[in-house]
Amino acid sequence: MEITITSNYEEMSKVSAQIIAEEIQRKHDLVLGLATGDTPIGTYQELVKIHKEEGLDFSKVKSFNLDEYLGLAPLHKNSYNYFMWENLFKHININPENVYIPQGNIKDPEQFCAWYEAQIKEAGGIDLQVLGIGRDGHIAFNEPGSSFASRTRIKALYKQTIEDNARFFDKMEDVPRFAITIGIGTIMEAKKILLIANGKNKAAVCAQFIEGPVTSQITATALQLHSYVNIVLDKDAASKLERTEYYDWVRDNKHSVQKEIGR
Ligand code: F6R
Repeated sequence: MEITITSNYEEMSKVSAQIIAEEIQRKHDLVLGLATGDTPIGTYQELVKIHKEEGLDFSKVKSFNLDEYLGLAPLHKNSYNYFMWENLFKHININPENVYIPQGNIKDPEQFCAWYEAQIKEAGGIDLQVLGIGRDGHIAFNEPGSSFASRTRIKALYKQTIEDNARFFDKMEDVPRFAITIGIGTIMEAKKILLIANGKNKAAVCAQFIEGPVTSQITATALQLHSYVNIVLDKDAASKLERTEYYDWVRDNKHSVQKEIGR
């Protein structure tokens, strides 16, 4: 896992957007896994800027979102579909036919989950998966205890997640209790992973998932078993890590290390 500690949210957003942009420039038909939530808003704003100012081309990019609240229609203002169009898609030249987001109000969610997995496979798998992290260690909505082999399915949300999500809803009763989410197994098949996190309220979980033992109680720890993970944090989210000096040294000396080993 490569860990980049940035000075603030703006820098975290710029660094992560740059990583995504470079992958798109390298492979124009990149299959991109996308997250919602507060964390990636700045990253998406930066991507829009790179698109507008430098012509970053999304026309061949295919995107798959991680999750959606069960029961919410795509046009509901709290749906992740709405979020993605407002914060990214309507500002770039992505082809709407290439956008995949779980449909919260689908009649047969189980059949839909199998279909979603099949679409990811048919696209050739996810090249780069963007992730945020919940305070309980979830990635996508893989709550504590989720199997590391799990695939796209319906998941009951953990109490802390429901409380965290409540800020977007008028009443507590309106906050969805279930979500359609891709699984840990699905995420682990992505070729590359980029996880971003910011803020003091993520410091404890970032220390646990980066430096703690692998456990399905903190599902982000599964990423320790993936061979290509980039983690970009702001300094608040990194404030409880113990080996920051080492991470900084590796990053600053990456190029000389690569030269040393002839790459
Ligand atoms: C969203 C998702 C979640 C969020 C996580 C952090 O699509 O899958 O795992 O990434 O809950 O949310 P924020 O960024 O709002 O703190």
